[in-house]
Amino acid sequence: MKVAVVGATGLVGQVMLQVLEERKFPVSELLAVASKRSIGKTVQFNQKDYTVMGMADAIAQKPDIAIFSAGGSTSLEYAPKFAEVGTTVVDNSSAWRMHKDKKLIVPEINAHTLTAEDKIIANPNCSTIQMVVALNKLHQTYNAKRLVISTYQSVTGTGKAAVNQLTFERSNLPGDKVYPYQIDLNCLPHCDIFLDNGYTKEEMKLVHETRKILGTPDMGITATAVRVPVVGGHSESVNVTFEKDFEMADIHKILNETEGVTVMDNPERDIYPMPFHSQGKDAVFVGRIRRDDSAPNSLNMWIVSDNLRKGAATNAVQIAEYLVANKILATA
Ligand code: A2P
Repeated sequence: MKVAVVGATGLVGQVMLQVLEERKFPVSELLAVASKRSIGKTVQFNQKDYTVMGMADAIAQKPDIAIFSAGGSTSLEYAPKFAEVGTTVVDNSSAWRMHKDKKLIVPEINAHTLTAEDKIIANPNCSTIQMVVALNKLHQTYNAKRLVISTYQSVTGTGKAAVNQLTFERSNLPGDKVYPYQIDLNCLPHCDIFLDNGYTKEEMKLVHETRKILGTPDMGITATAVRVPVVGGHSESVNVTFEKDFEMADIHKILNETEGVTVMDNPERDIYPMPFHSQGKDAVFVGRIRRDDSAPNSLNMWIVSDNLRKGAATNAVQIAEYLVANKILATA
């Protein structure tokens, strides 16, 4: 496969290169693409240096697949240009996720809906991916009617500049701020921009993307997304109300059997998931699993995952793997 990684110098792009390498994705030629600022710089892949190229050069080389993580406006402008030359685009931005003709894919849940017609495929938001991976099988069994979500999101979700802000603040050095306030020793109930309804765009992504992936347009979902001074790994408190009642033993059994989920839940031994040990791993970790006694058929869970991996790069690479394995790419 001739593979373009668009945004190869960014936080997610760098993890994409690492994940492609680790999973031995069949890359015969790598095109490392970034903004004009980075043309001529090098990135590493499989212990080799690759010179960063611009969009026009990459499109001219008609890659088989382009994995994008270069921001929404870049995807909006360039994904169709790649698609036009026959490239299948897997896009990590929010640009195409809610487009009615574009599929929003978490491989464990809905990769089977992909066909060769899908030339721009959307990768969901990081907070959404980890939640639906944990929730999907439970939902299939008990029919989730309502979700109340609170997120504790790492600064890596905002990109390199946000990690720099936290690092400067920790070292008491001057530097540019990407958040409206200090993030070190603080938490901001503000991820992405505010919308007219008083929610943030990140909160509404959880609502709309979850409904689209699970095919549940009427599911009641409300979210509060909070940025915390953590460098890698998003955490979420999720309260679910199901239509059907459940036994806790069955909930544990289902979660233990859910593809992509690792249960870490032993309060007696202080075992629960934390962003700290999710870093660099692909699993979605679930713990603090307990019945919500304040409402019928309700459950609390604590869900943690590395937002740069399963929340972004790994999910995108898994989509690409599915396309290759099922010969959905034109050249596969
Ligand atoms: P660059 O490093 O040249 O700015 P992050 O979210 O970690 O900041 O990363 C964003 C990624 O998207 C970087 O690789 C960045 O490249 C890339 N990028 C931003 N704007 C464009 C653009 N207009 N065309 C191509 N790549 C872009």
